[in-house]
Amino acid sequence: MRRKFVAGNWKMNTLGQSAAELARALAQAWPRAKPQVEVAVCPPFPYLASVGAALAGSGIELGAQNVSHEKPGALTGEIAIEMLRDLGCRWVILGHSERRRLMGETDALISKKVTAALAGGVPAILCVGETLAQREAGQTWAVLDAQMQGSLAGVEAVAMNDVVIAYEPVWAIGTGVTATTAQAQSAHAHLRRWLSIRYNPDVAGQTRILYGGSVKPDNAQSLLGQPDVDGALVGGASLKAADFLAIVRAAESIINP
Ligand code: PGA
Repeated sequence: MRRKFVAGNWKMNTLGQSAAELARALAQAWPRAKPQVEVAVCPPFPYLASVGAALAGSGIELGAQNVSHEKPGALTGEIAIEMLRDLGCRWVILGHSERRRLMGETDALISKKVTAALAGGVPAILCVGETLAQREAGQTWAVLDAQMQGSLAGVEAVAMNDVVIAYEPVWAIGTGVTATTAQAQSAHAHLRRWLSIRYNPDVAGQTRILYGGSVKPDNAQSLLGQPDVDGALVGGASLKAADFLAIVRAAESIINP
């Protein structure tokens, strides 16, 4: 069975003090890892070390929001996967729509990052998702297929153990508009079919597919209750300990009603 996974994407939010306070509040509330639900938070780079320290010994894992695909060396301003591993990162978010759209990241670049992350021993949360215009034009499946194909180019079936997919419809991110449970379920089922065809039914059966886009305490339970929704990538609501924990508990309650 796929273990539920709730990850918080803090994006470009918090400062040193607020990041540490948020991490401490979460660590207190989730003091040990539980078999049913995996929990991670992905703070901005400058706070990875302090958040990692605040989470030490708790059940919450540390993740980063991006990485360079290059080896350590002369690349001013970039962060290598070796550094993330050194900081105790257990995850790295790649291909987020904000980076695709605003920072010009292409599937070709994202696939290099996925490959670098996996080679460096840090599992990836790979984000895919269509814009509203693409959905309205009936292109959702084609867009998702192209992003999966491009971003996972060169990633073999065995390496998929270390990849989690996040379906994040761009029109639902930070907008307060959430995909309906039916829209989420059908996109997740589509992605799982894609995994089965590109790889094999085992990979499709074991790969976790998270939903992201305005996940809140009041919609988490119904979204996470869908058969192909294995968890959530949470932006805005991950910045409030109470909201994030309510989403984590919603995931837990699906397994232990
Ligand atoms: P949101 O962001 O929950 O604020 O919509 C989700 C994400 O971008 O990962």
